[in-house]
Amino acid sequence: MKKKYYITTPIYYPSAKPHMGHAYSSISADFIARYKRLEGYDVKFVTGTDEHGQKIQKSADKRKLSPNVFCNEISKVFLDLTKTLNLSNTDFIRTTEDRHHKTVQKLWKILEEKKFIYLSKYSGWYSVSDEAFYTESEIIEKDNIKLSVASGSAVEWVEEESYFFKLSQFQNLLIKHYEDNPEFIQPSSRRNEVMSFVKGGLNDLSISRNSFKWGISVPNSKDHIIYVWLDALTNYLTATNYFDENSSWPADVHIIGKDILRFHAVYWPAFLLAAEIPLPKTIFGHGWILSGDEKMSKSKGNILDPIEVVNEFGLDEIRYYLMKEVMYGLDGNINIDNLKNCINSDLANNIGNLSQRIFVLINKYFSCKVPDPKPLLKDDQKFMDCPVEGLRKSMDSFEIHNYIREVISYSSKINKFVNDEEPWTKAKNSDPRVGTILYIALNALKNIFILLHPVMPSKSEYYLSCLNVDTKNISLELINKNLPINVELKMPGLMFKKYI
Ligand code: MSP
Repeated sequence: MKKKYYITTPIYYPSAKPHMGHAYSSISADFIARYKRLEGYDVKFVTGTDEHGQKIQKSADKRKLSPNVFCNEISKVFLDLTKTLNLSNTDFIRTTEDRHHKTVQKLWKILEEKKFIYLSKYSGWYSVSDEAFYTESEIIEKDNIKLSVASGSAVEWVEEESYFFKLSQFQNLLIKHYEDNPEFIQPSSRRNEVMSFVKGGLNDLSISRNSFKWGISVPNSKDHIIYVWLDALTNYLTATNYFDENSSWPADVHIIGKDILRFHAVYWPAFLLAAEIPLPKTIFGHGWILSGDEKMSKSKGNILDPIEVVNEFGLDEIRYYLMKEVMYGLDGNINIDNLKNCINSDLANNIGNLSQRIFVLINKYFSCKVPDPKPLLKDDQKFMDCPVEGLRKSMDSFEIHNYIREVISYSSKINKFVNDEEPWTKAKNSDPRVGTILYIALNALKNIFILLHPVMPSKSEYYLSCLNVDTKNISLELINKNLPINVELKMPGLMFKKYI
C-alpha cells in the first residue's frame, strides 16, 4: 500500500473572480502534491470555495442575486480555474454542500457537549472583507475611517448576541504544541509571529452571528448562524469524511497565505484540541504576490488576471516563473518583463536549447534511437549523477524555489558538458565518443523532465513521451534508471518560445 499524503489549499471566497494571488496559492500546493506523487505517495489534494458569510451576502446583494445563485456562478469560475491551471486536486469542496453542513454542525455539537461554547454578547470591531473580529489595539483611524492595521480593510462596530468559544483556555496548550512541534508552523518567521501573538493572551472568540442569515445554522438555534471561519476551516475535515468512515485526516500540510495565519495556526488547532481531534502536521504560510510594493488584490485594483497571462505566455511557463521567482514563504514582485526574461533564460536558452541540440544529433546520427554509451570515462559519472538527495532536502523544508534552481543548475552543468565535448564536431569526424556524450545528455534530459513534472506537468509529460518514458508512472525511482539502448525516440517540436 502506498503511503498517504493529504494537502489542502485555502478555500477561496467566490466574492469576485480569481486573480494571480489565488492562482499562486493553488499552483504552489499543486507543485507539492505532484512532487509527493513523484516520491510515491498516494496524495489527496483538496481545494474549493468558501461561500458563506457577510462578505458573500453583500457581494450577492450588489448583483441583486440570491447568495445561492451568486455562489453557483462564481464558484464555477474557481472550479474552471483548477482546469486552466492544470491542478491535480482530487476534490473540490463547496461549503454550501450538504456533506459540509453536516460536518460543521457535528463539530459544533461536540464543542458544545464538551462545554467550550457559551452564549453572551459581542461588541467590538468587525471587518466584513476579512470576516474577522479585531480588538481596539488592532485598529487605526485614517481619514475618519477605522481600519484593521494588519489588512488595511475597513471595520465596523458590531453589537449582537453571540455564541463564544473558550479560546482563552487554550493559550498554554497552543504554546506547548508550537514548542513541541517546530514543524507545525512554517516558515519559522511565521511561527515566531504566531507564538508572540498567543503569548500576548487570547480572548474568547465570537463564533456565531445573528444579524444576517447566509450561513450554516447553529444547531437548535433559530437566530444564529455559525461564524464563517469556523465553518470554512472545517472543510478540511469534511473532505476526509472525518465523522463517517476511515478518514485520511490529519492533513500533512495546509498551504495558506500569510494573511490567514491566525485563523489556521491559532483558532483551528484550538477548535481541534477542544474537540479532541488530531491536529494537522504543518501549516505553511506563503508570502504575497506583490504588484509594485502592494499586495495584489481586487480592492487595490492592481491585479493580473491569471487566465489572460496563461493565454499569452503558456501555463507551464507561468507556473515555472511563479514557483522559481518568488521565494516560497516570502513576498515577491512579479511583472511581465521579468517573466519574459525568465522564460528566455531558463526555459528557451537553457533547457530548450539543450534538448533541441541533443535531439537534432540523435536524429541525424543515430536514427532517433538511444545510442550505445560504450565505456563511460571516469569523469562521465559525475554527469550521470543527478542531485536528487539535495532536491529532497529542499522539498522537505518546502523550498520550492531552491528545488527549481537546483534543477536548472543541473541543466546548466549538462549544457556545459555538451559545449565542452562538442559532439557535433566529433560526429563529423566519426568519433565513437559521440554516442557516449549523447547518451549522457539524453539521460540527463530524462531526469530534468521528471524533476520538472511538479512545475511543468504538460511539457514534462510531452517531453518524457518523446523519450519513450511511460508518463503514467513518472516517479523519482526512474531517475536512476537509464533509457534502454536502441529504444526509439520521437523528435520533439519547439519547446519554448523566446520573447523580446
Ligand atoms: N476564504 C478564506 C480562506 C478560508 S480557508 C479555510 C480566504 N479566501 S481568499 O479568497 O480571500 O484568499 C484565499 C487565499 O489567496 C489566501 O491564502 C490568500 O493569502 C491568497 N491570496 C490572495 N491574494 C494574494 C496575493 N496577492 N498573493 C498571494 N496570495 C494571496 O482568505
